[in-house]
Amino acid sequence: MIALDVLAENVISRCRLLAEWSEEAGATTRTFLSPPMHAVHRHVRGWMERSGMSVSTDHTGNLRGFYPGDQASAPRLLIGSHLDTVPRAGAFDGILGVVMGAALIELLDGRRLGFGIEVIGFSEEEGVRFGVPFIGSRALIGEIDDALLARRDAAGISVREAIAAFGLDPSRIGEARASDSAFGYLEFHIEQGPVLESLNLPLGIVDAVSGQSRFDVLFEGRANHAGTTPMNLRRDALAGASEWIGAVEQAANAIPGAVATVGRVVVSPDAGNVIPGAVTASLDVRHTENAVRHELVERLLECASDIAARRGLTVSCTRNLDQPAVAMDASLTQLLARSVALCGWNVHRMASGAGHDAMMVARRMPAAMLFLRSPGGISHHSDESVLVEDVAIALGVGMRFLEELEQSEEMKQSLV
Ligand code: HGY
Ligand code: MN
Ligand code: MN
Repeated sequence: MIALDVLAENVISRCRLLAEWSEEAGATTRTFLSPPMHAVHRHVRGWMERSGMSVSTDHTGNLRGFYPGDQASAPRLLIGSHLDTVPRAGAFDGILGVVMGAALIELLDGRRLGFGIEVIGFSEEEGVRFGVPFIGSRALIGEIDDALLARRDAAGISVREAIAAFGLDPSRIGEARASDSAFGYLEFHIEQGPVLESLNLPLGIVDAVSGQSRFDVLFEGRANHAGTTPMNLRRDALAGASEWIGAVEQAANAIPGAVATVGRVVVSPDAGNVIPGAVTASLDVRHTENAVRHELVERLLECASDIAARRGLTVSCTRNLDQPAVAMDASLTQLLARSVALCGWNVHRMASGAGHDAMMVARRMPAAMLFLRSPGGISHHSDESVLVEDVAIALGVGMRFLEELEQSEEMKQSLV
């Protein structure tokens, strides 16, 4: 069996290799089923097949590697994460979880367990191209609807058309549903925050994933000449949106555990000598308690209306996501915690501020997540990284988890 530290080096170099497949030179940007995803599939498929997995691509573009158990009737454990990225991303968000899943199969080295293992590289989790996240994991749980398939990207291409352009068949999306024999889901993921580094811990056990609300907020005023329009006669959409963005930050600062972000602003007509007539601002609000999140969202949208009314603007809001907070499965998480402890590491339980595919999969089966430390607490940035020693530790914990699962008959029964 390959040494954990050697395999950990391989995992990191594989993630960095995949990061080179991008829609833009010099940065890592790979959105839903964009052309570079073909090369990513080719590489991951190769690593999976060399470990004895049979590999397929489902019709939402999820890459699915299967490693059978000791009997054809054996239930299966899913291990996965996402292969898409945010614009100018790091090399590890999502991708690490897929590459680590495949690496665990490499460590099994032909040994058959009492359950099969399906490693899934989800096609889309970030929601960058079509404004709605979790397309891949929604397909796994059978929650893709026509409204989602009809959403269009900035170039006017629909999800349905993007699937067909990738060489897949949108009419066969139903085949992507998880096998009925799937009894649980495990996701390895970088923490993407500063907590584990501040505690000097390599790993964290995720108790719950914060809920998130995502909106587009459109402020409309009147475009006009920047030189001839007196200040008191303006209806400047960007000045109104800017006042609101400051209020968003102020409101979130006042609520413990809340985060609110305006990450994208689209200005029209976007010319230096024209008063902005229309501005679309994104809004991303998160909290582990749904009631707190909803109350903050309501307050922020009311604030937008008040500012608009005072400035002679109109404002309209489109909700793109209302994702409740999701608790991870207690039994599976307890088994994961036991595996961490048996490997000699502190068990640190924590919430995830970032969203993950596990939120979706948890709607259909028990799900658990293991976080790896994020050096510098940075993510969604090219400086994102992971420590090779932490990857080796996490691989060891992953193998122990499989062993514990193998031994605990009641665990498999209770989870099915
Ligand atoms: O935005 C998130 O929470 C995740 O990175 N998709
Ligand atoms: Mn992300
Ligand atoms: Mn992610």
